[in-house]
Amino acid sequence: MDQKLIETLIETATAQLAFSYVPYSHFHVGAALLAKNGEIYTGCNIENAGYTPSNCAERTAFFKAVSEGVREFSAICVVGGKDGVLTEFAPPCGVCRQVMMEFCDPETFEIVLATDTEHYQIFKLKEILPMGFGPGNLE
Ligand code: THU
Repeated sequence: MDQKLIETLIETATAQLAFSYVPYSHFHVGAALLAKNGEIYTGCNIENAGYTPSNCAERTAFFKAVSEGVREFSAICVVGGKDGVLTEFAPPCGVCRQVMMEFCDPETFEIVLATDTEHYQIFKLKEILPMGFGPGNLE
């Protein structure tokens, strides 16, 4: 990914923090999912009084894209912090890593963790989900 695209993903994910529905944790998370067709799908976390129906920002972005027929992705940027203040990286939870495994190549799919456009780190899915179980295992 070139620098400009990385910055766009970080800025897009950060803009999503305003939409997080987080009355319980007050932990805002924003995501920007880059599809191979060049489109960026956004997501925020959406909590629920029943707690378990809460949805992470990453899965919101994936499900928006997949529900529109898009299933090929190259990268996702995730940002998050208490009260929407970004002080450290917000790594994807295990469930979101598993959703990435369903649609993305662990060797190439990139996860951008950031606090701002000057402070970020990029990981491959295989690094954050080693020996992941995916569609290939069922073939
Ligand atoms: N959260 C995400 O949106 N993504 C993650 O991968 C980790 C956690 C959300 C869920 C919940 O709304 C809040 O952060 C605190 O766990």
